[in-house]
Amino acid sequence: MAITIRLATIDDLQGMQNANLSNLPENYTFKYYLYHLLSWPQASFVATTTDPELLEQDETQVTDIKKDTQYVRSGEKIVGYVLGKMDDDPDSTDKETPHGHVTSLSVMRTYRRMGLADKLMRQCLFALCENYKAEYVSLHVRKSNRAALHLYKDTLKFEVLSIENSYYQDGEDAYYMKKKLKLDELLASTFQNAQEEDDLESDLLEGIVVDGVSAL
Ligand SMILES: CC(C)(COP(=O)(O)OP(=O)(O)OC[C@H]1O[C@@H](n2cnc3c(N)ncnc32)[C@H](O)[C@@H]1OP(=O)(O)O)[C@@H](O)C(=O)NCCC(=O)NCCS
Repeated sequence: MAITIRLATIDDLQGMQNANLSNLPENYTFKYYLYHLLSWPQASFVATTTDPELLEQDETQVTDIKKDTQYVRSGEKIVGYVLGKMDDDPDSTDKETPHGHVTSLSVMRTYRRMGLADKLMRQCLFALCENYKAEYVSLHVRKSNRAALHLYKDTLKFEVLSIENSYYQDGEDAYYMKKKLKLDELLASTFQNAQEEDDLESDLLEGIVVDGVSAL
């Protein structure tokens, strides 16, 4: 099962909204999704999976696609998304510094704990920084949301700035979190295989060849 992470397009919005409805109590109008993509077309991403059998079929023949709201098109279905934006709140306390905001993130239940949210977030942060010159990004998270808190605080190194009492409609408090963005730190090459520093001089195949020969 291959999973692709790519920029979200208008065609994906229905699937993103459906994923949001399945995964989170904070839901938005279709217009608000559209507003994100029209205003910041480089800031939102989807994770999709493809079913090679369905890809080969004509969409009109695949009746199941019509029933499954996660399908974007024949053979491709949304399994996660991140909805990102630049802060355009007229009441913002920081109008001087361009900064981004993550409106929503979710991954369908059967695709969790595979690193998808981590990758979606990193793409979004990189895009906000590179395309819109965001100097930092902020978000809100429920105090009880352990999975998201681990992702933001431990994996992505967001800082907790404040606790916003009764932020959510059901009365739960939110952590207001922020992460400073530095383009070089957000490059995929910085965090992928980050443990192994390449000195750019030694022969990369040396160890592999020796190990391979001695194992024979
Ligand atoms: C929060 C959510 C997006 C995480 O998605 P995911 O794809 O499973 O996350 P990842 O696989 O990328 O995991 C990222 C990190 O979080 C950790 N994590 C994921 N789920 C966890 C859980 N239930 N409890 C504790 N840690 C968890 C992973 O172990 C990983 O940590 P590591 O970097 O130390 O290895 C997903 O659980 C979800 O969609 N939840 C419902 C919607 C939601 O809460 N959205 C966030 C709103 S603010």
